Amino acid sequence: MTAQSLEQLRRCTVAVDLGAARTRVYVRGSGLVVDEPSIAAVNTHTGSLIAVGSLAQQMSGRTPKHIRVVRPVSGGTVVDIDMAQRMLRVLVSDKIRKAWRRNPMLRVAVCLPHDAEPIAQRAAVETLTGIGARRVELVDILVAAAVGCGLPVEQPEATMIVMCGAASTQVAVLSLGSIVAAEKVLVGGDAIDYAVVQHLRSRHELMLPTQGLHPLHLALSADPAADGAEVRGRDVATGLSRTVMVSTSQVREAIHTPLTAVIDAIGRVLRGCPPDLVADLVEAGVMLAGGSAVLPGLDRMIADSTGMRVRIAENPDVCAVMGLGAMLEGRVQPLHLDPLGA
Ligand SMILES: Nc1ncnc2c1ncn2[C@@H]1O[C@H](COP(=O)(O)OP(=O)(O)OP(=O)(O)O)[C@@H](O)[C@H]1O
Ligand SMILES: [Mg+2]
Repeated sequence: MTAQSLEQLRRCTVAVDLGAARTRVYVRGSGLVVDEPSIAAVNTHTGSLIAVGSLAQQMSGRTPKHIRVVRPVSGGTVVDIDMAQRMLRVLVSDKIRKAWRRNPMLRVAVCLPHDAEPIAQRAAVETLTGIGARRVELVDILVAAAVGCGLPVEQPEATMIVMCGAASTQVAVLSLGSIVAAEKVLVGGDAIDYAVVQHLRSRHELMLPTQGLHPLHLALSADPAADGAEVRGRDVATGLSRTVMVSTSQVREAIHTPLTAVIDAIGRVLRGCPPDLVADLVEAGVMLAGGSAVLPGLDRMIADSTGMRVRIAENPDVCAVMGLGAMLEGRVQPLHLDPLGA
C-alpha cells in the first residue's frame, strides 16, 4: 500500500467484501453493518425479489418451482450485476442507504480476489456505482485480510497469510505493504464441504440436505476436542430420514485430498520467495484467515507440512472487510522511507 493509495482509501466511507458465500459491508464510524449470505430468492414468474441473505439461505433447497434461489457472486466475482445490486440494496439498511443518497461524492472501497481479471474488476465497480458510489477503490483481498488480522504488513519483514474462503484459497507473502509472492487455488470451503458430502454418501449411504453440514461445522469448530457430531440426512436406498455420528477423524480423512491442493499452493509461494523472507517466516509463522480457517485439522496439516507455526486469526471470516475498514478509518500508517536520512 503506497501512502497515496492509503490516502485514497481514507476518503472512502464504505468498505465492501462481496464473497462467494457472504457479503460484508463496513461503514466508517459505524463498523460492520452487514454480514449476510450472498444469496437472493426470486420469483421466476414476476422477476420480483422475495428474500435476500439469511432468509433466502433458509429457503435454499426448500422452494417450490416458481421460486429460485440464486447466488449473484461466484468465486469472488460478481456474475449477475443486476441481482447483486438488488441484493445489496436490501441488505444495507434504510438508514445507511439514505445517508448514501445524501452523499453525492460517496466513495466505496471493495476488495477483490488476488489477480482479479479486468472483467471481474469492472463487474465490482459497476455493481457499486449502480447503488450510488461515485468512485470505487479496488483493494487486493490478501492485503486487506492481512491488515484485518493485525499483521505488520507495512514493515520490512515477511508475513504469510492463507485465506481460505468458500470458493478459493489464496496464499501470499507480504512485505513493505505489498505482495511479494501469491497463489490462488480454486479449493475453498465449498470444495471441502463437497468432499465431506461425498464421503457421507459413499461411507454412510446418506444424502445431506443443503444446510446439512452446518451443524457439523459448528460442533467441530466450537469444540476442537470433540470426537464428532451428528448429522441428519436421507438414506440413499430407503429415502427415509436417518442420523449418523460422524467422527472428527472421518472428517479429516475426507478433506485430506482437497487440502493437499492448499498445501501445494503454500509450497509454491514459499519457493517463489527470496530466502530472507522465508527466514522471517520461520519466526513469524503463518496466519490463517477466511471462513474455512476454523476447519478441524487445517492448521495442524499446514504446520506439519511447512514446519512453521500456524495461527488462526481472531475473527477469520471477517478479517478482509475489517482490514478495509481499518484503512478507511486511517488506522494503517504507511512506512515513511527517508532516503536522505534527513
Ligand atoms: N465453523 C465452520 N467450520 C468450517 N467451515 C466453516 C465454518 N463456518 C464457515 N465455514 C465455511 O467457510 C466458508 C465461507 O467462508 P468466507 O465467509 O470466508 O467466504 P467468502 O468470503 O464468502 O468466500 P470467498 O472469499 O471465497 O469469495 C464456507 O464454505 C463455509 O462452509
Ligand atoms: Mg472472502
